[in-house]
Amino acid sequence: MKIIVVSDYERMSEEVAKIVQAQIAVKPDSVLGLATGSTPLGTYRKLVEMAKDGLDFSQVTTFNLDEYVGLAGDHPQSYRYYMEQNLFSGVNIPREKTFIPNGTAADLAAECAAYEEKIKGAGGIDLQLLGIGSNAHIGFNEPGSEFGSTTRLVDLAESTIEDNSRFFASREEVPTQAISMGIKSIMQAKQIVLMANGENKADAIWATVLGPVTSDVPASVLQLHPFVTLVLDEAAASKL
Ligand code: F6R
Repeated sequence: MKIIVVSDYERMSEEVAKIVQAQIAVKPDSVLGLATGSTPLGTYRKLVEMAKDGLDFSQVTTFNLDEYVGLAGDHPQSYRYYMEQNLFSGVNIPREKTFIPNGTAADLAAECAAYEEKIKGAGGIDLQLLGIGSNAHIGFNEPGSEFGSTTRLVDLAESTIEDNSRFFASREEVPTQAISMGIKSIMQAKQIVLMANGENKADAIWATVLGPVTSDVPASVLQLHPFVTLVLDEAAASKL
């Protein structure tokens, strides 16, 4: 596990964007695994700037980690909408190469199985970007998620519903379920970059890096992956 500590959010975002840029430079048809939430917003802004300067997404394929159940792609809190607003509309990626689980599929189990197959069909993920929950979840793999898990329907932890309620008008509006890539789906990526900023992530980062590898701390599984980089601001790294 390589750990890069930088002074602040801007630097963190720059570092991660540079890793993505390098990935696309060496493999223009890279398959990227993408995250949503507050943490990658700065990275996506930088990538949009890089795209204006010529970074070419035309051959890139993307798979997002997760999507809320019950929110259609045009719902402002859906992750499809987030990706459109924050990255896809600013880069030249063909939309048919952007994959996000469909949280309104009639058969959610079939949607999950099909998603996993699509990742395999694309040749697997070259570079997976991750944020981390304050409870150390990755994707929506909450504490207790099995390391062998693949894309599936998950119940969100109370703490996650609480954390994410800031994006919704009220706590009651936060979906309680999501489709999430599993721990195994994430661990199959060739390279993983986890980014975290802010003091409220410091405990989760400590447990991820220095604690035991346990499903109670989903991100701790990353200790077992051969090519992981953590890009942290000083606050997130403050307990290491
Ligand atoms: C989002 C995701 C989540 C977030 C995590 C941190 O696609 O999979 O694991 O990365 O909840 O969220 P923020 O960045 O909002 O603190």
